[in-house]
Amino acid sequence: MTLLEHEMTINNHQLLINRPRRLRATDALRAMVRETELNARDFIYPLFVRHGEGRSEIRSMPGVYQLSVEETVREAEAAARSGVNAVILFGIPEEKDPIGLENFAEDGIVQQAIRAIKKEIPEMVVVTDVCLCEYTDHGHCGILNMGEHFHAGLPEGYVLNDPTLDVLAKVAISHAECGADIVAPSGMMDGMISAIRDALDFSGYENLPILSYAVKYASSFYGPFREAAEGAPKFGDRKSHQMDPANVREALREAAIDVEEGADMLMVKPALAYLDVIRVVKDAFPEMPMAAYNVSGEYSMIKAAAANGWIDEAKVTLETLTSIKRAGADLIITYHAVDAAKWLAS
Ligand code: PBG
Repeated sequence: MTLLEHEMTINNHQLLINRPRRLRATDALRAMVRETELNARDFIYPLFVRHGEGRSEIRSMPGVYQLSVEETVREAEAAARSGVNAVILFGIPEEKDPIGLENFAEDGIVQQAIRAIKKEIPEMVVVTDVCLCEYTDHGHCGILNMGEHFHAGLPEGYVLNDPTLDVLAKVAISHAECGADIVAPSGMMDGMISAIRDALDFSGYENLPILSYAVKYASSFYGPFREAAEGAPKFGDRKSHQMDPANVREALREAAIDVEEGADMLMVKPALAYLDVIRVVKDAFPEMPMAAYNVSGEYSMIKAAAANGWIDEAKVTLETLTSIKRAGADLIITYHAVDAAKWLAS
């Protein structure tokens, strides 16, 4: 070895290189240092239940169906077999009216579905969405400022807050009476958690948890859902109650209010364009179980790209769901739930 060569070797030895690649060398090592692990138990599977027989696929959500009560039970059984322990129900009523009477009817479609699932699969956690928009003929999330409810100080067509709370409380109690395990108010009305908590406690359901859609944005990613649930507003939008996508400090305020009012779990919705919001809310309320809603538009984008052969559906879906959990969600409401559970198992 020449002197020069020797010196070069010494220099190399002195070179300090940090080597994170050491722990990426094998599958086994990577598994040992993995920080986030998805599990089928993290998923809540949304189901759309309608009157009639059979199932019909939703055009803008391939693989997602409007289901009869019988088919809803079948789909919940498929979820259970794949290891998914929870479903969230959305109802499409027979008829719509300004208040949405079927929403709290004893034989309403969601009421039938809750009873049927709890009868056939008692261990399945049945979550119910508590809102008006699928049931009202105008498609809004509350009682509107018109007709007998007209309030001169507010614009015509404005979603009235306090009269809507009474309806939400009725809906929650009706779901509780059928055996729902968790109620999830999604209408972003002020005071909705207090109103529902109070009504449930008064009716003897003090042990029924509330999952609050605490931080819900006025998002365009809900497009396909509105076709699925037939709940698009007939005019206007939801900006007077859902949050402005530009805001994150306001998310903390919404979450704090709902914790104060007695929510048992919080939700951020949508998930992907709001991963930062999930993180901020989780850090501010680490004691609260946190859900994130991987919404219809997020689902359909993956399905469309996969159908074109542009992305690998399984890998992209699992990567997406991992990102939501990594951001701080404990639970993920996702239309991918059953597929993802199967991919995780294989
Ligand atoms: C309201 C509700 C909506 C969604 C869940 N609950 C629609 C809305 O707020 O307009 C959207 C879910 C999705 O896009 O997957 N009941």
